[in-house]
Amino acid sequence: MQPSLIEPRDLPPCHVSSGTFGSTRTIALRHAFSVSAGLRVSSSGGCFFPSRCSAGEEHPVVLQLGGSDPETLAHAVRLASPWSYDEINLNCGCPSEAAVKTRQGHGFGAQLMTCPELVRACTEAMQEAASVGVSVKCRIWTHPTLADLERDGDRFETLLRFVDTVSAGGVRRFIVHARSGILAGLKASENRKRPPLHHDFVEELQRERPELELTLNGGICSLEEIEETRAKGLEVMVGRWAVQQPWAFADESARARGRGAILQDYLAYARRELQEHREDHLSILADPLRNLFAGVKKSGEYRRVLSEALSSSPREGGWDRFQTAFATALSHLPESAFEGEK
Ligand SMILES: Cc1cc2nc3c(=O)[nH]c(=O)nc-3n(C[C@H](O)[C@H](O)[C@H](O)COP(=O)(O)O)c2cc1C
Repeated sequence: MQPSLIEPRDLPPCHVSSGTFGSTRTIALRHAFSVSAGLRVSSSGGCFFPSRCSAGEEHPVVLQLGGSDPETLAHAVRLASPWSYDEINLNCGCPSEAAVKTRQGHGFGAQLMTCPELVRACTEAMQEAASVGVSVKCRIWTHPTLADLERDGDRFETLLRFVDTVSAGGVRRFIVHARSGILAGLKASENRKRPPLHHDFVEELQRERPELELTLNGGICSLEEIEETRAKGLEVMVGRWAVQQPWAFADESARARGRGAILQDYLAYARRELQEHREDHLSILADPLRNLFAGVKKSGEYRRVLSEALSSSPREGGWDRFQTAFATALSHLPESAFEGEK
């Protein structure tokens, strides 16, 4: 059996996203979840593909590109083709300074929302180069500062115009983080909490453009919300909640087996990844297990010990170091943390 942190369950398919990829890698295993693997195309055209995306058991995996030059993006798509990604995504949602400051062209990320024609040109070039679908992850809009947002407000029409312009070039799938991106004055992490969410914009978009495949993202943190959103015809992408509380997604069978059994499955998987040289970064490999015990007594101690053991020179030590780090960290947890539900 392939290892999985979370067993397949009768949960509506939703998408789990993390720029750190490793944090959600196991959630993608044997689960109808997609992971967007963050990747930058540098202004000089250089590309970095995380080698771990090629593992067959981790599909479906979406490769996310950041860029604004159609030719460079098409080149990146062609370079990525041997890695068998299931979908290629263009990042039109990142408001970080690095994205804004990219010197050449229009940078990448959220600021591209103000240039829908350019996004269409990019995605057209990407589609021509790709043998799989191309999608766009965007915000509802983007403003230079919070003061601009306060003055101009968020308007559904601007989102609609963006989506109409881009979809005219053939893109059918949009993943919408339902808040505006603020390009200056807010850190990336603050840009995930502010400005306010507008799920209603994405719902309206679904009603206006039912032919598109739309995914709602932003602030979803209950299974009920996922169900309710899907009942409206939208897919759901979950970000921080899935990373912070992976056990919330455990189904009946996983709960019956308990966190201990799931942990053992994952450790067997990690051992293979390390020994077969698909992954050598111990800290990234440990990410999916950091919050497995969230809510359990002494889980803070477990997390702290694990971090301390793996943070320095994370590519050194291989399986022996990994296993020792876990043995030490896990020893802080009570026996009951590993048991399944009766
Ligand atoms: C650590 C971290 C890294 C992220 N990196 C990316 C990224 O590379 N590309 C992207 O489109 N979104 C990225 N996001 C944003 C998430 O995909 C998502 O849009 C955001 O967290 C809002 O969803 P949530 O409220 O469910 O967390 C990142 C989020 C976090 C917390």
